[in-house]
Amino acid sequence: MDTEKKYIANVDKLIPRPEIALDVLKIVHDLDGDTTELAQKIEQDPNLTANMLRMANSAYFGHTREISSVKDIIIRLGYDMVKMLAITSASAGLLTSPQEAYNLEPRVLWNHSRACAVFSAIIAKYADSENIYSVYTAALLHDIGKVLLNRPLQSESNKRKIDKEFSTIVELERFLLQTDHARVGMALLEQWGLPDNIFIPVGYHHSTSEKEASLLNSKIVYLTNFLLENIDMQSTKQEKYCLKVEEFLEQNHALPHVPNFQANMATIIEEFFIQYNGIVLC
Ligand SMILES: [Fe+2]
Ligand SMILES: [Fe+2]
Repeated sequence: MDTEKKYIANVDKLIPRPEIALDVLKIVHDLDGDTTELAQKIEQDPNLTANMLRMANSAYFGHTREISSVKDIIIRLGYDMVKMLAITSASAGLLTSPQEAYNLEPRVLWNHSRACAVFSAIIAKYADSENIYSVYTAALLHDIGKVLLNRPLQSESNKRKIDKEFSTIVELERFLLQTDHARVGMALLEQWGLPDNIFIPVGYHHSTSEKEASLLNSKIVYLTNFLLENIDMQSTKQEKYCLKVEEFLEQNHALPHVPNFQANMATIIEEFFIQYNGIVLC
């Protein structure tokens, strides 16, 4: 963990500690966290509140009357949806900047992260997961390490002549920085006090062999990240997207096994497109 500590040592300069957002995440993930406390905390942060209201008023929910307060969201959409919207809004500010070392334009990382989160929550629901929020949060934050490694990766690649080919970005990171964005992201979220069912899947979203990678949350985040990176679901336009589910599964039999995923893959993907495109991005 020592190398990771080096990269999170000055994190507050790069990402000022998002106090309210972290409190919101902790209340959401605390089993005893109550609705009033959550609403009050959210309302302390005008950006967070505005983002949540924008999402809650998306066409996806189909309201006739505008939702105008956090309390309103709780009454009209329920506490579960408040949790989901709170997690999303609390994470948005951390992930929208461009990450040049990874060729990621502004918002690309955010769109990828949100797609991963929506997809993971649907897969978790089909897998009868007991804690959909933890996998949703883990998927949303899975690449946060890229925000921290963007500059070091860029300066190391400028400094050194790289005469080797790397098939993945993780291999390049390990070669240049002796760690990777998954491990650094895990160290950051652990330091911020988020629970282990969130930081472990973040740390192992590019691994399949370790014990930690066999946890359900880790397998789901690995799977959604893999699918979004490999089968061009990035466009998120269902009509442009075509996947022969059976053929795909045959070619990718080494993917981690998630209960009820394979049997329901086509339906899960359809649900993903509806949900992802329906809720306005914050
Ligand atoms: Fe990643
Ligand atoms: Fe990713």
